[in-house]
Amino acid sequence: MTAISRIDGRIKVTGAARYSADYPVGDLANGYLLLSTIGRGTIRALDTAAAQHSPGVLAVYTHANPLPLFGGAESGVGYNWLPLQDDQVRHHGQIVGLVVAETFEQARDAAALVRVDYAAVPPRASLRDGIPGATLPDDVNGEPALLDLLADGVASIDEALGASDVLVTGTFTQPIEYHSAMEPHAAIAVWRDGYLTLYSGAQAPQLAAGTIAATIGVDPSRVHLLSPHVGGGFGNKILTWGHPLLAAVAAKALGRPVRIVLTREQTFGVTGHRSAMSQTVSLGAGRAGHLVAIKHDAYAGMSGGGDGFLYEAAPHTTSRYFYASPNIHLGQRLVTLDVPPQTPMRAPGQEAGSFALETAMDELAVRLGLDPVELRLRNYATTYPGRGVPWSGKHLDECYRVGAEAFGWSRRAPVPRAVVEGDWLVGTGMATAAYPASRYRTTGKVRLQPDGTAAVSTATSDLGTGMWTVLAMVGADALGIPVDRVRPALGDSALPGNPGAFASAGTASSAPAVQAAARSATRALLELAVTHERSPFHGMSQDQVRYERGDVVGPGRRIPFGTLLGVVNLAGIDATETTALGPERERFAFTSFGAHFCEVAVNRWTGESRVRRVTTVIDAGAIVNEKTARSQIIGGVIFGIGQALFESADLEPDTGRIANANLADYVLPVSTDVPPIDVRFLSHPDTVFNPLGARGIGELGTVGIAAAIGNAVHHATGRRVRDLPITLDKLIDA
Ligand code: MOS
Repeated sequence: MTAISRIDGRIKVTGAARYSADYPVGDLANGYLLLSTIGRGTIRALDTAAAQHSPGVLAVYTHANPLPLFGGAESGVGYNWLPLQDDQVRHHGQIVGLVVAETFEQARDAAALVRVDYAAVPPRASLRDGIPGATLPDDVNGEPALLDLLADGVASIDEALGASDVLVTGTFTQPIEYHSAMEPHAAIAVWRDGYLTLYSGAQAPQLAAGTIAATIGVDPSRVHLLSPHVGGGFGNKILTWGHPLLAAVAAKALGRPVRIVLTREQTFGVTGHRSAMSQTVSLGAGRAGHLVAIKHDAYAGMSGGGDGFLYEAAPHTTSRYFYASPNIHLGQRLVTLDVPPQTPMRAPGQEAGSFALETAMDELAVRLGLDPVELRLRNYATTYPGRGVPWSGKHLDECYRVGAEAFGWSRRAPVPRAVVEGDWLVGTGMATAAYPASRYRTTGKVRLQPDGTAAVSTATSDLGTGMWTVLAMVGADALGIPVDRVRPALGDSALPGNPGAFASAGTASSAPAVQAAARSATRALLELAVTHERSPFHGMSQDQVRYERGDVVGPGRRIPFGTLLGVVNLAGIDATETTALGPERERFAFTSFGAHFCEVAVNRWTGESRVRRVTTVIDAGAIVNEKTARSQIIGGVIFGIGQALFESADLEPDTGRIANANLADYVLPVSTDVPPIDVRFLSHPDTVFNPLGARGIGELGTVGIAAAIGNAVHHATGRRVRDLPITLDKLIDA
């Protein structure tokens, strides 16, 4: 296909696109969440009298007069508890009250008047301190938490490591990271005649609507969630947080629409993060650089008293299949922490896992005196380790070659600290990217309309990814009509069934359903053409007519579908189809691949690292829209620059308070931190995976980039930093 600009671009840059908090709703009351100021303990007493008498206040809700929420919806709620239902404080920044007033400012000011008396106990806030008490999860992605894939006759991974010629070992750590989407979380709840309309940004509109219905105790048919535009999700708008739940029940209780907008600071407590991680990777290899053993163990921070859900399955999502090795050990352990909830965050598992594995691979290359690209080619996996099945498509070797050529990798100095430019030490580094391609059961609908347009719909979401545009393009391609004749619809829980946009599966899931629905619609159109008595094709046989580029074509005639619908006086032809991955999932592994190359300069005096340029080559099958796909990869790389150099939620150990819960102190890459990023796509359509041949790209771009940057820092300085982010203090004397 081609590269077109976002069809929703104009309404976004002109401010016409509405986000959750923007909907003009009459008689709106505003809620403000009151959050805990201790890290763990119980609420002994609450004094809400002053708040209740504060100007404009309509109600103050706490656990002492709770709004009714019900358990049983845990799969879609981001916490393993429900807000305001008990006196327990599980983390700093937990919801302990809701003040509803006429205006946001009145609610906020009244919330400041609520006095809460806590019985505090010290929170468990440090991953490192909790490691001795770590536990094992029951399973990790359906596999054992401790998984050994060992060659015949090998008793243990340590035996294999011990027998290898060369051994590298490193422990890699990273702090809690936050998605920091541009649009903070918000919800507006409006009840009418027992039906709830919710405006709340959601990656999965139907999952959110179903979760909210179950949690507030109403039939799912009575909850309608609208989320046409989402200002960034990155995983943090998959699960349901407290604000839409409390807005829904407060609106019902007060008989007025209620809006709750989180402040930026509140997003750090009320919504999710990526778990803090500690990983140890050992690689054993022969002298020629062939891996003999990979041992990868990880500890992930777990909130909610420890029985939250593990998302950061780093070893199982990277060392499981990145390279061929006769012996692989994966270990995953959990550390109970009293911190805000963890949740999926862009490339959960792979983001952290690739930092550890791909840094260790660089250390091995250095130890062997082997080029890092060559080391990866020598350990290239052609079948999925331990499963013996091939990939549906894998051109990672081409990514390495194309990337190395485009980047100028062959000019790289063979040893670290070889390039000095004034005050700057300059190095280059590379790493592998891989992310599984997923496809979920999805329903798409196509409606051919008398004005010659086609409506294409499915209940997916556009988080800024370009889904509006891709949906229109896929519909246009399937129907053979121009994109501007397609009217896409998404971001609405009432649309045909869709799991939502996550796991980089949005396009791969939705496109086949739309294609199938388009085929059904054109079949129904041809059927109508020969059977309707007012149709000019009436009485012809099916094989005398065909559909071609929006027209019905028969002997001597070509009639656009809109015209035909007008002639027969029909308002439209609808077709709905559901598609899913078939038995091919047993015979193939599905993964998107890539390779990153980057150049980093480290200031000799300040330790400041600047990424100077990045080349990223992507093997993700067919690319539907090269323009929005390119933006996705650039966004992923920038996400990785944040992981590598800047991002860290800093918890005060005594209170569990996030000391930098704002965008001044939680440092994100800004424009001046982002160098030219050269993105190249290989074009190998993967039609085993779906008819379009398109695998996912949303998360792939962020996998491996932190390691590539860290490897470049090592090449520049000779200093290996295994603790993210790579801040100035870690390089000040380099
Ligand atoms: Mo992604 S972390 O599945 O939005």
